[in-house]
Amino acid sequence: MLCGIAVSLFDCSAAGASCSAAAPQTIRIGTSSTELILSVEGGRLYQNWLGPKLCDEQDLPYVQRPGYRSRNGTYLKRSREVAACSGSEDYFEPAWGIVHPDGNRTTYFYFQKIERRPLLDAQGRRCGEQVDILLADKVYPVELTLHYQCWEEEDVFKLWSELRNGAQEPIVLTAFNSTMLYFDAAKYYLTQFSSDWAAEARMSTTELSYGKKVVDTKLGSRANLFREPFFEIGFDREPCEDAGTVLLGEISWPGNWRYTLEVDNNNVLCVLPGINPAASDYTLAPGQVFATPEFVFTLSYEGVGEGSRKLHRWARDYEIKDGHGARLSLLNNWENTYFNFDQNKLAQCMREARDLGVDLFLLDDGWFGNGKDARSSDKAGLGDWEVNRKKLPNGIPGLCAEAQTAGVKFGIWIEPEMVNPQSKLFREHPDWVIMQPDREPYYYRNQLVLDLANPQVQDYVYGVVKGIMDENPSIAFFKWDCNSPITNIYSPYEGPLQGNMYIDHARGVLSVMRRCAESWPSVPMMLCSGGGGRCDYASLQYFTEFWCSDNTDPLERLYIQWGFSQFFPAKAMCAHVTSWNRATSVKFRTDVASMCKLGFDIGLADLSEDELQYCREAVANWKRLAPAILDGDQYRLVSPYESNHMAVNYVSADGASAVLFAYDLHPRYSEPLLRVKLRGLDPQARYLVKEINLMPGSRSGLAEDGLVLSGDYLMKVGLGAFTGAQCHSRVIELECVR
Ligand code: DGJ
Repeated sequence: MLCGIAVSLFDCSAAGASCSAAAPQTIRIGTSSTELILSVEGGRLYQNWLGPKLCDEQDLPYVQRPGYRSRNGTYLKRSREVAACSGSEDYFEPAWGIVHPDGNRTTYFYFQKIERRPLLDAQGRRCGEQVDILLADKVYPVELTLHYQCWEEEDVFKLWSELRNGAQEPIVLTAFNSTMLYFDAAKYYLTQFSSDWAAEARMSTTELSYGKKVVDTKLGSRANLFREPFFEIGFDREPCEDAGTVLLGEISWPGNWRYTLEVDNNNVLCVLPGINPAASDYTLAPGQVFATPEFVFTLSYEGVGEGSRKLHRWARDYEIKDGHGARLSLLNNWENTYFNFDQNKLAQCMREARDLGVDLFLLDDGWFGNGKDARSSDKAGLGDWEVNRKKLPNGIPGLCAEAQTAGVKFGIWIEPEMVNPQSKLFREHPDWVIMQPDREPYYYRNQLVLDLANPQVQDYVYGVVKGIMDENPSIAFFKWDCNSPITNIYSPYEGPLQGNMYIDHARGVLSVMRRCAESWPSVPMMLCSGGGGRCDYASLQYFTEFWCSDNTDPLERLYIQWGFSQFFPAKAMCAHVTSWNRATSVKFRTDVASMCKLGFDIGLADLSEDELQYCREAVANWKRLAPAILDGDQYRLVSPYESNHMAVNYVSADGASAVLFAYDLHPRYSEPLLRVKLRGLDPQARYLVKEINLMPGSRSGLAEDGLVLSGDYLMKVGLGAFTGAQCHSRVIELECVR
């Protein structure tokens, strides 16, 4: 993506690129199963089709948008223009709002040229196509490039736009959507994901009726605290796991995003994903380019489950940092010690990590700041990334050495975008902080957000990571936290251009993340934001995983993980075993965390000898089954939203291993227990059924334990995996014996 730089957007000399300035009648953009068909009429660009790929070229002339008459026709109707702007003859919600230097607010974009080039994977093989379409106004010197990336097999689209100001004076942007997509159906159902601290990704479904549904965030940072930047739309029926046509869409942006779903008077749905224009009238300087966030989507014709699996494969193959690499199991100290630790205590934690069999010890918040700025609570120290000499006299190098002695890797927590007023950084650089000059400040978690629109501040944040890595090259993991929304909203850097603050801030954050990922490509990094307040695919390009929630009560986690799994692969979702909800067994807690990227955040003193033994085996099982859990296909079988149980199975890409996770939440007395029918297995293959993750000394109560059954049987008849017990879990391995 390009931000704020003057460039030539079209370079037809690129390998494999083809360029055309002649307006084609129809433009086909697509994957193996979905296509978008555009047409140029009167020089303007319209959407004729978005849906299943059409097979016969000869049908294309008949694929037309219904019933629209031109400007001189008899009636006005939504035109289905691909980049409708404010002030045009389309009176519905526009993609762009542009105020030209003379105050005129009208813009009409006309086709200029189209370029196609192959998308290549990491090995240089073709995996899809990128189509770029250049449009320009005839009256004002503004150009818009529409970008479409389509991954053929994964069936995923990524769309974004770039607007160039060719005028000699600034223009002001008042709306900036990544794209506009139109759909025709009798009914539309939106599944949205509300959120809060410890209550992330809660799903609810509502029918979209005439008018607009707007879901957005204005928080700036920790932007997803109250709602998630992704949604599903079911066509003609509610989004359902295994049937029906459904759109799964995500706005890749760590700042203020917005999606608008407008159903018009003819029941046409227009989807407009982009940046939230609230308090963001953006001044674009002459010659500069404004890039929107990317909108990632897929259409599934077999329900949400298939759509999720497409996104999971695509994310691992092309989007998240080190998508094909291994993931480190870990022991974190946050819930165990909070701020109260010293070197000896941490050395003990590292030995416990070794004892558990995990790969890494992760030191959380509280290791920095000195004197009156010591980080002994969340009230001080943020911004002063010097080790606390009282707690850790041998510094981080001393901890790295302890980790080496214990035989585990070492990782560290940072929150480099923020500052406590009680810190050296704040006293030295008050002008680096987003804060209103003449008003009493107010705080969220006693901290303020650094002004990342400012390149000097970006360098400082990058320098935090660099400083730690330069001193400690053996550091094997970062947890990058972000606990506060933007408060006291005024950027000293932007001065009179405050309308640019939120957007430039998000760009600054992404730029620093990108620099870090480029500098340390093999160091895994966890995205965290007071739990799961930041999880979007723009950030995940630079992070291997994200922390789903501080809520690790396994019952709640089942819902949270169910929600996030709609869009993100298990490999990117961190789940830790903690002491939340001690009423549930350690086995239940661990089995829930084992469905994602497994970690622990608990002291071993909290575990009995049997529980510890169980955990060691569970870690070993999780590592052995990683090809299925982390890199395989996920099938959500039984929803906790629709039953008193939950079940999910995973199948490795080579089909050799599969694993079923089955949970009983709060079954009713004498409730009929349905068998769990697996999915994604080879019907011809035979599988050894084995319950694993058993407490020492206990035996499986599963009737099918030890049997060899066909994939056909397991998918049609299923396993009696559920029980009537409260908070009970079973992990069942299916080893393919052919
Ligand atoms: C919020 C995170 O979600 C927690 O896991 C922990 O890292 C704390 N911040 C530390 O302050």
